[in-house]
Amino acid sequence: MSRGAQMKSFVRVLILVQVAAALLAGGPVAAELSMGYYGMTCPFAEYIVRNVVSEALAKDPTLAAGLLRLHFHDCFVQGCDASVLLDSTDGNTAEKDAPANLSLRGFEVMDAVKEALEAWCPGVVSCADALALAARDAVFMARGPYYGVPLGRRDGTRSVASDTFLALPPPLKNLTLLIQIFDNVGLDVHDLVALSGGHTLGVAHCASFKDRLQADAETLDSSLAKSLGSACGGGDSGTTAPFDRTSTRFDGVYYKELTSRRGLLSSDQTLFESPETKEIVSMFAMYPDYFFYSFQQGMYKMGQINLKEGDEGEIRKTCRVINDSS
Ligand code: HEM
Repeated sequence: MSRGAQMKSFVRVLILVQVAAALLAGGPVAAELSMGYYGMTCPFAEYIVRNVVSEALAKDPTLAAGLLRLHFHDCFVQGCDASVLLDSTDGNTAEKDAPANLSLRGFEVMDAVKEALEAWCPGVVSCADALALAARDAVFMARGPYYGVPLGRRDGTRSVASDTFLALPPPLKNLTLLIQIFDNVGLDVHDLVALSGGHTLGVAHCASFKDRLQADAETLDSSLAKSLGSACGGGDSGTTAPFDRTSTRFDGVYYKELTSRRGLLSSDQTLFESPETKEIVSMFAMYPDYFFYSFQQGMYKMGQINLKEGDEGEIRKTCRVINDSS
């Protein structure tokens, strides 16, 4: 057997062992979440979400990236409670209007998802669950892995822009800070590298990779530097560049790009440049199945960050406003 084939079967065995261990341990489902949560109260909840997401992505496949990022930005700030979906009010600037969130997309899809859920089962399915499902479906429809989403999250009533400041990672070369921010919500270094693979989808604006073109240029492939430089040179703040060559397809190309020093953000490239994470990037670049498996595990954990307990929170009627907003 060739070395490549040996390595492939080693990774397969590794994945099987990890899956078996997770199954035997029952999986780290938070006490209040369960797979069949809406079985009696809204049995078609998952189908309803999938239908609306699939219609939206048929019109605009780039929205898969938007939905995945919405779920990430929801969970890292105040936990997975749909706080990112709340609109600002007269006296309050909400999370979505914080600088790090201004390019979030997919809010209209979530409005449509919630409207459909309310039509079938009013007051039952939380916006936080709907967003977790929509992100999962978006990943799958972009040809990524499918994973089960335990349900039963409740919606938060607080959404404050300044809560995002320390909770969301900046797109810079500081690996220690990235590790710290993930650790703050119970995610480890492996999760950091696997979940950064979310950047297999979507685009970033020039402002987000300015640092990469300047302070971080010595680790940037020269032809990419040239094309990014000329794309952003015009000073149009709306200009974007894709994270990888296949930005509407969920695959392992993002990691391959990192190994060729073609990462778009400094925070992406640093994963390959730092000894602590380089091996993981190389493994994911070589074995997309291993990336898919690690991404599933990471999303499963991310979807359970700081959940509301017991009667805390509510089931919002519309995702943009809290129920008692009068
Ligand atoms: C590791 C730390 C991370 C940093 C520093 C980071 C930062 C960013 C930045 C700056 C953008 C582009 C914003 C813009 O210019 O419009 C972006 C886009 C994106 N991020 Fe991340 N991100 C991180 C982790 C993640 C994770 C964990 C996920 C999902 C699991 C994710 C999913 C996405 C997606 C899908 C996009 C593209 C959105 C679109 O096309 O609308 N990111 N991220």
